[in-house]
Amino acid sequence: MTQYKIPVIPGDGIGPEIIREGRKVLDTAGERFGFDIEWVEYPHGADHYLKTGELISEDTLKELSQYKAIYFGAIGDERIKPGILEKGILLNIRFYFDEYVNLRPVKLLEGVWTPLKDKTAKDIDFVVVRENTEDFYIGIGGRAKKGKSKKTLEVMRNMYSVKFGLDINSDSEEIGYQLGLISKEGTRRVIRYAFELAKDSKKHLSSVDKANVLSDIYGFWREEFTSIAAEYSDVKTDFNFVDAITMWFVKNPEWFDIVVAPNMFGDIITDLGAMIQGGLGLAPGGNINPEGTSMFEPIHGSAPKYKGQNKVNPIATIWAGALLLDQLGEKDASSAIVRAIEQNIVNGKVKTYDMGGTSKTSDVGSDIARLVKEV
Ligand code: IPM
Ligand code: MN
Repeated sequence: MTQYKIPVIPGDGIGPEIIREGRKVLDTAGERFGFDIEWVEYPHGADHYLKTGELISEDTLKELSQYKAIYFGAIGDERIKPGILEKGILLNIRFYFDEYVNLRPVKLLEGVWTPLKDKTAKDIDFVVVRENTEDFYIGIGGRAKKGKSKKTLEVMRNMYSVKFGLDINSDSEEIGYQLGLISKEGTRRVIRYAFELAKDSKKHLSSVDKANVLSDIYGFWREEFTSIAAEYSDVKTDFNFVDAITMWFVKNPEWFDIVVAPNMFGDIITDLGAMIQGGLGLAPGGNINPEGTSMFEPIHGSAPKYKGQNKVNPIATIWAGALLLDQLGEKDASSAIVRAIEQNIVNGKVKTYDMGGTSKTSDVGSDIARLVKEV
């Protein structure tokens, strides 16, 4: 029997209740496919921060680096200013472990309602590969009042570091600015990951940018994409401006197989992706460092107003657990979980309120766990 040790951060709001169901399903999959999971709980999130002042410490991150995959619920709490937990915990984990791929399947499962009229499960089935460590997410910027001021901004990464020395002279009453950057190393590795996916699955690859306007940053992205494309002559490719791709996701989602996007555009288009696959309750994500520690989470937030009601849909989290098992190499267990989710939906009996049902979070988890043994 294979033994896995998996750290789990349930987090805030509905985090603990959806993670409980994810664990239930993964444990059951282990019984069938011959592995056993020892879960190692971490308390990080709003309560822990309010109690101890720790968001997530260097020591904790070091400790987590011994693992291949972290299971993550959700963070966010009304008592804490927006951005503190997101940056201090979620983005911190993504950056610290250099999880440069944010993999977000956009797949309409059989039996799920989509707001796109006349589109079915056959039409909506693609994967977004979102760059996850650069772009406007590097977290540097500032504000400056009228007059002269200086500022030094630094980006430190494993692969490189960059220092900007700004000499500001402005006669506006006040400005706010944010610097985004992409590096050759950071861009090439995520685009290469997407090409490998496309090659293995014999699918076509679409690149997202805004090279027509933000040409320094996204013109660079497009150049690197073109250069890597030359090594993959079997993979068909196309370019999409980000504004246009939101239109195509709605009008012709069947066109897409694999989509690769810079961080911020990837963030935006995957919320749209989540909606066309049936809603945020159904959309999982993986933050992947193929050689290091990855982290798997639903793409929705902590939904504090539903906390503790055993009401929300656990499917995104269960599906994220399937992605986690896939990363660990448990391919059969992973696909059985996705089939069990699909079967639960097709049966149509045990479903949460967002899918038109009255079942509890825990009922859906138990039903999918039962199905995992059969499908
Ligand atoms: C997501 C979220 C995060 C992001 C936030 C919470 C920092 O929106 O995972 O898509 O912007 O990446
Ligand atoms: Mn987002």
